[in-house]
Amino acid sequence: MTIKTRRLANALGAAVLDVDLSQPMEPATFRAIRKAWVEHLVLVFPGQQDLTPEQHVAFSRLFGELDRNEATPSYRLSGYEEVIAITNRPASDGKPSPSKDVGRKWHSDLDFTLRPTMGSLLWCGQLPEVGGDTMFANMYQALETLSPGLRRTLEGLEAVYDVMAGVRAEDGRDAAALDEMRANSRSVAQPVVRVHPESGRASLFLSERAVRFEGWTEEESRPLIEHLCRHATQPERVFRKQWQPGDLVIWDNRCTVHQALADYDRSQIRYMRRTAVLGEPSGRLVQE
Ligand code: SIN
Repeated sequence: MTIKTRRLANALGAAVLDVDLSQPMEPATFRAIRKAWVEHLVLVFPGQQDLTPEQHVAFSRLFGELDRNEATPSYRLSGYEEVIAITNRPASDGKPSPSKDVGRKWHSDLDFTLRPTMGSLLWCGQLPEVGGDTMFANMYQALETLSPGLRRTLEGLEAVYDVMAGVRAEDGRDAAALDEMRANSRSVAQPVVRVHPESGRASLFLSERAVRFEGWTEEESRPLIEHLCRHATQPERVFRKQWQPGDLVIWDNRCTVHQALADYDRSQIRYMRRTAVLGEPSGRLVQE
């Protein structure tokens, strides 16, 4: 079975042109999609305007067990614990959406937990007139383009994540969402270099949510974390997704980082639905 793909950027990303995700999928089609995903890291399925939350969940489950969003229940789409709505559309009581500023830092989904995600599937329902883009960076290339000396240093390092440290600097995050995240947050150390279980390739695993390296002070760690995040997200390693309503995008969180841009008129509505597929256990709890 082959599927029709078209590359979208030099570093990562391809469109899958001939698949209707609202229909039950043949195992051979899914195997071809999974192979293309491991190869391209980010896949875009255009034209899925009518995809229901049930169909979105059914396709996501083909990849594995889904996150139930226990860390952020207020983001859940009503009636669907495995789906979150990422939107600035106000809630039914008129309050600001708790998820309106999700993903503003470069990150890999759930990198601050002991079960970071394998992949995420984001569907676009509504867009502002312009903007609302998402950027993705190739973390294999980020590692492969470092000097051998720095790479050797990183191979023995763990990065410590504290999700609250990652969001403190974000303007405008809803107070209730901050409380919810604070109640669920623990410090987790993750290896900075990980081997992808399907491709066998090593990649950098580090995001702007990391606060320090284990055994280093924050002051010592910050310059290297900033250097590595800047290096990883150079334009030549990035695919910038300009959405169309009805696009579904799946990305591999094991070898990419991504960032949702606030590059649009915030009085206009951007509405997305996301599921996340859990990956293998990774990292350990640390005392702060
Ligand atoms: C996310 O970080 O998963 C959200 C991405 C987006 O809304 O573009």
